[in-house]
Amino acid sequence: MRKDSKRRRRKPMIMKMKPLRRTLIQIAAGLLLSTTLAKSSRTEIPSLKEIFKNDFMIGAALNRRQFSEEDARAAPIIRAHFNSITPENQLKWMYVHPAPDKYDFTGSDQYVAFGEKYGMYIVGHTLVWHRQTPDWVFEDGSGKPVSREILLNRLRDHIHRVVGRYKGRIKGWDVVNEAIDANGTMRQSKWMKIIGEDYVAKAFEFAHEADPDAQLYYNDYSLENEPKRTGAIQLIKKLQAEGIAVAAIGLQGHNKLDWPTVEQQDATIAAFAKLGIKVNITELDIDVLPAIDEEAGLRLKLTPELQAKLNPFASSLPEAISKEQSRRYGELFGVYVKYRDVIDRITFWGVTDGDTWLNNWPVRGRTNYPLLFDRQGKPKLAFDAVVNAGLNAKH
Ligand code: GLA
Repeated sequence: MRKDSKRRRRKPMIMKMKPLRRTLIQIAAGLLLSTTLAKSSRTEIPSLKEIFKNDFMIGAALNRRQFSEEDARAAPIIRAHFNSITPENQLKWMYVHPAPDKYDFTGSDQYVAFGEKYGMYIVGHTLVWHRQTPDWVFEDGSGKPVSREILLNRLRDHIHRVVGRYKGRIKGWDVVNEAIDANGTMRQSKWMKIIGEDYVAKAFEFAHEADPDAQLYYNDYSLENEPKRTGAIQLIKKLQAEGIAVAAIGLQGHNKLDWPTVEQQDATIAAFAKLGIKVNITELDIDVLPAIDEEAGLRLKLTPELQAKLNPFASSLPEAISKEQSRRYGELFGVYVKYRDVIDRITFWGVTDGDTWLNNWPVRGRTNYPLLFDRQGKPKLAFDAVVNAGLNAKH
């Protein structure tokens, strides 16, 4: 009883006020509520694919949980911001063709169906690479290297089978990935050692036979470094001289806070554009962690002593680094927008910081922050910088 009477007596503060004041406060509160609601709704966040719709496509590399739509955090981000997709792993040889007589298209069928469901430009990645390719491809039954003829036959069968299955649906293929070394010469991979330099041309020919309408790409990293870029330019010129249509170069874009410079990025895009081909950014991210040599990193176990040195942002990203990364994204997008006539697509290598390969490469178990969306799926400062670069461009 007492409780009730107490409650009745307690008039809300606002009711005790003079009518005019009360109305003003109610209006202000209403306004505040509506702006807060609008801000917190996802529709307020600009869509990357919309911002850049007159410039280039915006893509993301997806893992299996993402294209099967099990990843509830990534799903709305992918639908809102990206109009192109690349499979992070599913079409690599070891997954799609794990044994001589075994093709497994379960994952890649799901990937392609996902892209079609949302009307996205679907990329195939990758047909020929020195990594994530099973040993059996290069060996006979007793583990000895096979002949050039046998390897070429295997390459033809693989490409015809994989490209042929998605003919007309996968629109562009990374045909050859990373064929060139840092000094610009051909990488001494098993492809190169067994077949010789023309394995690249052969792979393009087979892909063209399998789907004459597909766009065919050469994809590589660190092409912003002069010697490697020169090597790639020579390779593409050679392919062109042989009548092979290379639709675009893929600049992977695994960037750092201090590399590449704006000048290097600009010069690289300009140099490839001169060949009359398109230039795509295919695996974009900006690593914020201390660099470490790849081979050493892969062998390393992150002991508590090494944590502080190599994994300094395990709990959160310092504001200064976050700002620096956002500045870097802004300046690089400034260059991309400048070259929008030759750039067809900018693809990020992942969706959120939680699922980037850089948490486990080259050191396992670090906490990296290379993308535009944080671990909760919220847009970061870097996202705003990219949006601003798009808005500042004259359309
Ligand atoms: C390379 C490959 C990609 C991917 C990344 C790291 O850049 O092209 O497929 O493996 O490494 O994940």
